[in-house]
Amino acid sequence: MIRLRPPAEDIARILIDEATIAAKVAELGARIAADYENKDLILVSVLKGSLPFMADLMRRIPLPLAVDFLEVSSYGRATESSGVVRILKDLAHPIEGRDVLVIEDVLDTGFTLNYVLEHLRGQHPASVQLCALLDKPARRIVPISIQYRGFEIPDEFVVGYGLDHAERYRNLPYIGVLRPEIYRST
Ligand code: IMP
Ligand code: MG
Repeated sequence: MIRLRPPAEDIARILIDEATIAAKVAELGARIAADYENKDLILVSVLKGSLPFMADLMRRIPLPLAVDFLEVSSYGRATESSGVVRILKDLAHPIEGRDVLVIEDVLDTGFTLNYVLEHLRGQHPASVQLCALLDKPARRIVPISIQYRGFEIPDEFVVGYGLDHAERYRNLPYIGVLRPEIYRST
């Protein structure tokens, strides 16, 4: 039988715990609900990292809304975005004339989001805004404005609550700093 190592062993420290995430998600949901009343809101989740955030946030927005999903990949080293972005899964529904709110896990260099926002703007929505759970401003190369930002975090590689390293750790309920020896060895 294969015994999987508990993921928590690979975490150097917890950066944002479950209760802190939940409180922030509630706060963001309330702000979004106030801003999008009487609008044609569609939440566009950027897979896969934003999955838990999307699932929690949408239940904190008491408005009629639609959801859709976009999956992108950025090539490059395991912990670094390269700027070359590819769409793996596109939206299922037209967004023309609608109010799009993009839901993302983390804004790092900005390459991925810049590409996603351009892709969406090309489809003539009424508006496009961004909600990112995490922001690493120290790493930004492409300037991007974030209307709804969860937490500003230092330049460290984090996992959990949707964020992965080599597709692992997405199921951790908190956001933790990955031990550097883990990503140096893969
Ligand atoms: P950007 O294109 O450099 O802004 O990178 C954005 C993408 O890189 C995110 O959607 C994540 O998939 C990934 N990423 C950036 N920083 C981290 C991190 O600390 N942990 C896990 N994934 C990250
Ligand atoms: Mg990702």
